[in-house]
Amino acid sequence: MTDKSEQDRVLIFDTTLRDGEQSPGATMSHEEKLEIAEMLDDMGVDVIEAGFPIASEGDFEAVKEIAVRSKQSTICGLSRANFKDIDRCYEAIKHAGSHRIHTFIGTSPLHRAIPNLTQDAMADLIHDTVTHARNLTDNVQWSAMDATRTEHDYLCRVVEIAINAGATTINIPDTVGYTAPRESADLIRMLIEKVPGADEVVFSTHCHNDLGMATANSLAAVDAGARQIECTINGLGERAGNTALEEVVMAMRVRNDIMPYATQIDTKKIMAISRRVSQVSGFPVQFNKAVVGKNAFAHESGIHQDGMLKNAETFEIMLPEDIGLAASSLPLGKHSGRAALRDKLKGLGYDDVGENQLKDVFVRFKALADRKKEVYDDDIIALMQVVSGDA
Ligand code: KIV
Ligand code: ZN
Repeated sequence: MTDKSEQDRVLIFDTTLRDGEQSPGATMSHEEKLEIAEMLDDMGVDVIEAGFPIASEGDFEAVKEIAVRSKQSTICGLSRANFKDIDRCYEAIKHAGSHRIHTFIGTSPLHRAIPNLTQDAMADLIHDTVTHARNLTDNVQWSAMDATRTEHDYLCRVVEIAINAGATTINIPDTVGYTAPRESADLIRMLIEKVPGADEVVFSTHCHNDLGMATANSLAAVDAGARQIECTINGLGERAGNTALEEVVMAMRVRNDIMPYATQIDTKKIMAISRRVSQVSGFPVQFNKAVVGKNAFAHESGIHQDGMLKNAETFEIMLPEDIGLAASSLPLGKHSGRAALRDKLKGLGYDDVGENQLKDVFVRFKALADRKKEVYDDDIIALMQVVSGDA
């Protein structure tokens, strides 16, 4: 494994407060946004996309306040390809020690048809808007919305225009979650190879999860040379969501042998922010969600529990403490075996349970587990009272 300092750094751009909040029903209050931004800043997120300042007075105020309070993260705001949006965005983000204007336009044939722009007219607009943003700040990100469904020659042309107009980050969104890992990598590689000036900018990947491939597509883009991943906590976002921050960060950490990239995320803060985002957005985290789901570190079956009790590496590829969880759990259910029951009894203070008593309580426990989904500590205590004649 290479030394951390030699590893390529991948910037983490979090858009929970912008693309995440665009999920129907995920609206957060002003105070909640400030709290989440503070947690993102504290955990080491490089860029926080705090909102879309032109969208509403509330969004403007939230982005501005987040900018004022920011400590280490760069604060970014979104704007469409017009001067009014860009000016409004700048007014909100300029209060941050480090700030970025993010401007975008849909470049695919389907998206060009909406404002009814020819390829040439859109190219001119990109030149003018990126130039305008660059006159306000030297940190400008340009996104080709629906890049993965844009003709390659046109995408190369507009990326080159954006670079020449002063964009410092070029974002290649898979807006509708349509691409697949090999194609995601090929697209980034093609742009880096073909576009003059590509080596002067950071290429960024922004994936949606419509086909469940957002994490794989983002990591494939990084393998091909992208050095910024756009993501959200818990994968919150439009439709099936965005790339989940916790997944890409932990994947690069756990499989650093084959993905030798470094981030500056303090992974021990992942669980706390996952829970808080779930609370404030009102979006529960699915039980079997990678990294942060309730079952991600839980083992119910006898074989797995026995293995875990002997050596946690048998069934876990990361430490629960690494994401800020106190410990794994071995919930008792109908698949559990004697080893887990004995361990549970010890944990409840029953140190001297003999073999016969264990056999007796195990039979009763199995009968109960057949009727209940999960057997709780109080159930075990009640069973022990029965077998020891205290009930
Ligand atoms: O998915 C998308 O294309 C976006 C852009 C605004 C970057 O969210
Ligand atoms: Zn998006």
